[in-house]
Formats: sequence, structure tokens, C-alpha cells
Amino acid sequence: MGTSLHSEYLQAMGIQQWVPRIRGEAATPVSAKTPVEITPSPEMSGAQAGDNEIFSLDWPTLEARVSTCERCTLHATRNRTVFGAGDRAADWLIIGEAPGADEDRQGEPFVGRAGKLLTAMLRAVGYQRKQVYITNILKCRPPQNRDPLPDEVACCHAYLERQIELVNPRLILAVGRIAAHNLLGTNTTIGRLRGTIHHYGKDRIPLVVTYHPAYLLRSPLEKRKAWEDLQLAQQAASGG
Ligand code: URA
Repeated sequence: MGTSLHSEYLQAMGIQQWVPRIRGEAATPVSAKTPVEITPSPEMSGAQAGDNEIFSLDWPTLEARVSTCERCTLHATRNRTVFGAGDRAADWLIIGEAPGADEDRQGEPFVGRAGKLLTAMLRAVGYQRKQVYITNILKCRPPQNRDPLPDEVACCHAYLERQIELVNPRLILAVGRIAAHNLLGTNTTIGRLRGTIHHYGKDRIPLVVTYHPAYLLRSPLEKRKAWEDLQLAQQAASGG
């Protein structure tokens, strides 16, 4: 990425200064916090009837299954399901909360204002949107963008679990409170969850938590912390 493009995206993130790294020099270490004690495996839900079959589906069948899903009541109010987008063999898997109004209309995750900031954040660490895979905890929009209910998360869990298995990423970036809490099975605040490399599931996929871009739009001073989270994610993805 050219320097001006890079600084453009850093600017969008509210990062004023960018000191290029000297070749061969290690990245500035992100301050290691005391790890928060959390359950390493997901506690998203009880299993639902039909989950076992979902765990064996390939990409096209899984996508088709989601598009006609009526497992929870959200199917009655959605316009479109929002399955996921990007490189299905990506190193980075980004998991957000649920579709909003724009996503519900377009059928693609993170396409509204928050999505544009997420795209800028990814560009700041050298990724185009199409080079990562982006999905959500829920595949349908909750009315009025309310928080997902536990039974809705439970109904969608197998879809997400299968997506994680199929992408098999080097890193999961949990974007926002809802994603972090459901993936890590904890109610610990984002402030305490960020800054630590967690691990997801039986394959112990490195997982980093960051603020939701919608929150960053309301609280731009927190963008610097999100920048630190992305650096930590880079470190985690490269085995650090
Ligand atoms: N917020 C999310 O968490 N996901 C989207 O897809 C859009 C907004």
C-alpha cells in the first residue's frame, strides 16, 4: 500500500502519527496485560436440533441453508439474510454482532457507516476487505438493532461454528461486546478483554477483541486503542 493511502486510512482511524518501521526491527510491542481468566471455549448456546448436519455442510450448501433459515423469529422481520463476505480462505476472520438496516437491505455485512470504518481499520493494517472474511454472530437483523437474544444466538451458532471451521483462520477478530461475549463465553467488559490474545475453540484459534466501529464513531478518542488492538491482532496472526 502506498504511503499516502496508508496515512489516509490511519487518519480515518484518528491516528495522527505514523512512524515507519525500520526493516528488520521488531514491531513496537503492544503492552501485555494480565490475561483475563475466561472460559476458552464458546458457550453460545445449547445445541439445536439439526446442528450436527450443519457441521458437515460445504460453503454453497451452508449459504443456501442460511438464506432460507427459519430457526428463530428474526426470519419474519428480515429483508435479507447476511451470511458473510470476503475470502473464504482468509487468514483473518472478522466477527461482528448482527446486520443493521444497511446490511439487511444489501445482504452483506458491515456495509453501513460502521462498516466503512471497519474497512478503513483493516486497510490501516494492510488488508483489503476482500482479503479477510467478515461475518456476524447473527445472520438476520434484530428489529430496531436491539441486542441479540440468547435463543437467537443459539439458533445461529452452528452456522457461525461451521464458517469458522471452513475458513480455518489464523486469527479471529471479535468486533464489539456482543461478539466478544458470545465467542469467549464471558461477560467481562471489552476494556478488560482487549489487549490480550485469547483462544477460540478446540483448535485454539488466536482471538483478539476490539471495539465495535459503531462505538468508535461515537467515541473517536478510543480509535487509538483499536489501532493497538489491530497491531496485537497482527502479532497474534503471525504466531506471536
Ligand atoms: N454491525 C455489525 O456488528 N455487523 C454488521 O454487519 C453491521 C453492523
